[in-house]
Amino acid sequence: MAETLHISGETKQEMYTTLNSQIDALTSGETNLIANLANVASALKMTFNPLWVGFYLLENDSLVLGPFQGPIACTRIKKGRGVCGTAWEQNQTILVQNVNEFAGHIACSSESVSEIVVPLHNSNNEFIGVLDIDSVNEGEFDETDQKHLEDLLKIISKTIH
Ligand code: SME
Repeated sequence: MAETLHISGETKQEMYTTLNSQIDALTSGETNLIANLANVASALKMTFNPLWVGFYLLENDSLVLGPFQGPIACTRIKKGRGVCGTAWEQNQTILVQNVNEFAGHIACSSESVSEIVVPLHNSNNEFIGVLDIDSVNEGEFDETDQKHLEDLLKIISKTIH
């Protein structure tokens, strides 16, 4: 298992490429969901230093706060509520350039301006939670983030049974 993260590259795309191959090496021999998600949250924080990065995991009728890096956050989100609950309801990635323009956004931190939320599935392609990344900058996330984060979560999905 790699225990040191090496991120190189000038562009976001290059950084994701080096990140995702190391995430694969780091998680492929580990079946514990929390351990893998905790390392993914840490690796994303170390690579891009967003305000907040972490997971909400499906439990009964709510998404419940999981492994994360950043300021304390709200613990439970209902289906259809906020960006996370909308990504759950639609089972698709949601990019928000400015949270002030997203009706129903849940402001865990007043510093958060833009965000991306990507659904997480198990190896049977069943929805089990979301990855949420929040930035202090408007328009921080784009289709490059979406593609590489969706690829990253597919790597993790293989380990979730
Ligand atoms: N921004 C999210 C809530 C979670 S926190 O930002 C960590 C949302 O509206 O779904």
